[in-house]
Formats: sequence, C-alpha cells, structure tokens
Amino acid sequence: MFLYILLTALVGNIHTAYFPADSDYNSCYGDTEQTCEDGWTLLIRPQGGWCIKYYIATITRANAETACKTENATLSGIQYPSEITTIVNLYTAVNTVTSGSRVWIGAYRTPACLTSFLTTTCNATNSFYWTDNFTTGTAGFVWTTGNPNNNDSLNRRAPVVSLVIIDAGLDDVPDITTGNKGYICGKQAT
Ligand SMILES: *[C@@H]1O[C@H](CO)[C@@H](O)[C@H](O)[C@H]1NC(C)=O
Ligand SMILES: *[C@@H]1O[C@H](CO)[C@@H](O)[C@H](O)[C@H]1NC(C)=O
Ligand SMILES: *[C@@H]1O[C@H](CO)[C@@H](O)[C@H](O)[C@H]1NC(C)=O
Ligand SMILES: *[C@@H]1O[C@H](CO)[C@@H](O)[C@H](O)[C@H]1NC(C)=O
Repeated sequence: MFLYILLTALVGNIHTAYFPADSDYNSCYGDTEQTCEDGWTLLIRPQGGWCIKYYIATITRANAETACKTENATLSGIQYPSEITTIVNLYTAVNTVTSGSRVWIGAYRTPACLTSFLTTTCNATNSFYWTDNFTTGTAGFVWTTGNPNNNDSLNRRAPVVSLVIIDAGLDDVPDITTGNKGYICGKQAT
C-alpha cells in the first residue's frame, strides 16, 4: 500500500491505470498491473488475473462456448467460492432472479465419470474438470444440495455444469436451454 501511495504521489493519473472503472478489484495484485477490457470484471488468482463477463442469453452450453470464443474468451471456471458471489452479483445487477435462473460455466464431466452417478469413485470434487485451461483446484466446486447427481428430472445424464443463481451453487445438467439465463466468459487479464 505504501508503494501505491508513493506512486500516486509521483504520477498523477496512476489511479486510472491501477483501478480501471469496470474492474472489480479484490485486492492489490502485487506489483503487477492487471487489467480487463471495459465491461469485464477482474478476479485475482494465484496464477494471475482473470477477467469474466456475464452475457444474457438462453442458449445451450455448446453455443455459449462458441459465443465466448468470438470474444477471444472461453466459458469460465471457478477458482474460489467468492467468485460465485461475484457472478451472482454480476447477474443480479442486470437480470431477474427466478428459482430456475442458471448460467453456464466452464466445467465438464470427466470421461471416467460420464455415465456414473455420485459414488466414491466419481464424487463431488473429481467428476468434473475446468475447461478454461486456467482455473485450478477444486475449491470452486460448490454444489447445490444433492448434486452432482448426473441425473436431471427426466432421468437424463448431466455432463455439463450450470450455476444456479438463487442457490449460489453448481448443478450438473444436460446441455439443454431449460432455465438458462446466459453464460460467463473468461479470459486472462493483460
Ligand atoms: C480477438 O483477437 C483477434 C486477434 O488478436 C483480434 O483481431 C480481435 O479484435 C479480437 N476480438 C475481440 C472481441 O477482442
Ligand atoms: C473424491 O475422491 C478423491 C480421491 O479420488 C478424494 O481425494 C476427494 O476428497 C473426494 N472428494 C469428496 C468430496 O469426497
Ligand atoms: C484447453 O486445452 C486442451 C488440450 O490442449 C484443448 O483441447 C482445449 O481446446 C483448450 N481449451 C481452451 C478453452 O483453450
Ligand atoms: C434419476 O432421476 C429420476 C427423476 O428424479 C428418478 O426417477 C430416477 O430414479 C433417478 N435415477 C437414478 C439412477 O438415481
């Protein structure tokens, strides 16, 4: 913090450079400046800054991934439970929350667990992987009660993952549009 004050004193507009208006800083990121484009929210992670953005839509997960790619991004994984709060806040700022509201995130069921229900072999932390090639660990796998169960209400298997806004937790679902209210893209900060 002292360094920041010093820099602020030395360079009048350093504030703009360190705190772009649309970035949601959780803390200072060491000495490395990390920024996101306008409209993207910065998440501070040990491996570096990650920018996320919520897009309103009602689409499949596959189409959401394609849509993220047009933004040079990809469906975002979740590194920490606090990032779920950030996503819920991004959502509620611009969209209505109903009991079914959910958004696509970047997780996919592992090949080994594609046909398995919840077991000790295919459990809540090892049945899915983050598809963004940036998110790490399993802390972000905060499931809603009873999930992941690899089974929806019509007895369909559930290879992909949505974040249920009202529950602030994850649910494994088939790749269908039911309840979908958009998707979360992510890309590395620059
Ligand atoms: C994506 O990256 C390409 C190549 O760097 C660039 O030309 C394009 O403007 C980028 N698109 C967006 C939406 O940032
Ligand atoms: C899932 O299984 C792994 C071992 O394969 C274990 O390390 C992990 O703690 C288990 N997670 C849960 C939530 O039971
Ligand atoms: C992540 O890496 C895998 C393996 O290299 C690749 O197939 C996949 O397209 C990558 N995904 C993204 C979003 O970059
Ligand atoms: C899957 O879910 C359906 C609907 O809730 C239920 O009838 C069925 O028993 C479940 N299947 C398994 C194997 O749990």
